[in-house]
Amino acid sequence: MSDTTPSILFVCVHNAGRSQMAAGFLRALAGDKVEVRSAGSAPADQVNPVAVAAMAEVGIDIADQHPTLLTADTSRVSDVVVTMGCGDVCPTFPGQRHEDWALADPAGQGIETVRAIRDQIRDHVTTLLDELGVGTHDGAGADDVRAAVREHYAKAATRGAQQSSGCGGTAPSSCCGPSASSVTKQVFGGSLYGTDLGLVPAGASDVSLGCGNPVAVAELSPGQRVLDLGSGGGIDVLLSARRVGPEGFVYGVDMTDEMLDLARKNATDAGATNVEFRKGTIEDLPLDDECVDVVISNCVVNLSPDKAAVIAEVFRVLRPGGRVGISDVVAEDHLNPSQRTERGDYTGCIAGALSKSEYLDLLADAGFADTSVTFTHEVADAMHGAIVKATKPQAATS
Ligand SMILES: C[S@@+](CC[C@H](N)C(=O)[O-])C[C@H]1O[C@@H](n2cnc3c(N)ncnc32)[C@H](O)[C@@H]1O
Repeated sequence: MSDTTPSILFVCVHNAGRSQMAAGFLRALAGDKVEVRSAGSAPADQVNPVAVAAMAEVGIDIADQHPTLLTADTSRVSDVVVTMGCGDVCPTFPGQRHEDWALADPAGQGIETVRAIRDQIRDHVTTLLDELGVGTHDGAGADDVRAAVREHYAKAATRGAQQSSGCGGTAPSSCCGPSASSVTKQVFGGSLYGTDLGLVPAGASDVSLGCGNPVAVAELSPGQRVLDLGSGGGIDVLLSARRVGPEGFVYGVDMTDEMLDLARKNATDAGATNVEFRKGTIEDLPLDDECVDVVISNCVVNLSPDKAAVIAEVFRVLRPGGRVGISDVVAEDHLNPSQRTERGDYTGCIAGALSKSEYLDLLADAGFADTSVTFTHEVADAMHGAIVKATKPQAATS
């Protein structure tokens, strides 16, 4: 082991799946405390897109990595060599630490299998760093994603509060959207609400940053309890509050202080007394089990670095028989994560979008029934504003 920064080399056959995921975790968990390399004995043309998607779910971007040929020199200069299925063709040298991790090959596998391999790799990487005495900033990938998203929407809230200009208006670069030039009122923002827009204070409608009108599709009834994930300036909470009436109640959860301040001011301006805005993340909701009838959201799930956790949390807080009515950006199934990234950035609600099948799989994995994803309007090439619906079965418990 060198007395400076330890170098760790991950090796598998194609350098397209396991070794790339391991290198991605190492970069995210240890940053510049280690030197990270990965290579393959017979490198593929590109990184496995399913591995890219599985890593994107935990907020780690490996889409820009390229499979590299393993050479004896690369191996010789590494303090630790971790092999994953390339056996004797991976050279190791005296004085090195060598580990062989028994992991299934993700090549040709679906997302569920690759997720399981990803999680095993994360455990191995964490253990290795522990044994090497390298401190980790666990979850840094996800935290970094959330920090970037929070900063982006804090600016949008501040700008909205200052000048009452909204998404698709004079400040499109501060909102959901593939780029300033292609954002229009028709694909993101307040114009998607039609006449509902006039029912809330301008402070809420002007900072509408969504990609649909979830209240219009959620079929809310008087007396219901509703949760809005990523409530922003509060437009959907305030519209829902009118529908559920004084006997009902609506919670908004958002992680951005500036948005929460704006939403609370808008609720006061609207005279709404049956609403509450809580600070928290949608991956760890600040609500009790089975406490709401309906969960809505507008263009927020795509921003999460851990979408499986979001869907599991939605399942937990819904009462049995409760429903989901979410607007979100969703990709057509043929678009791999790199192609989604080409169409817009993460904070602009494009790069982090799930595909239709990925969404349906996550909902089913969490236990939801009657699931559907319906495209409503295209927001970028092969990417759509969509309505996502699901029901928590009556017999289910959280
Ligand atoms: C695109 S805006 C949508 C706001 C609102 N739903 C609307 O339609 O105007 C995204 C909002 O979600 C919040 N958000 C994003 N990721 C979040 C997370 N992981 N946990 C909690 N809030 C989040 C942001 O702070 C921001 O207010």
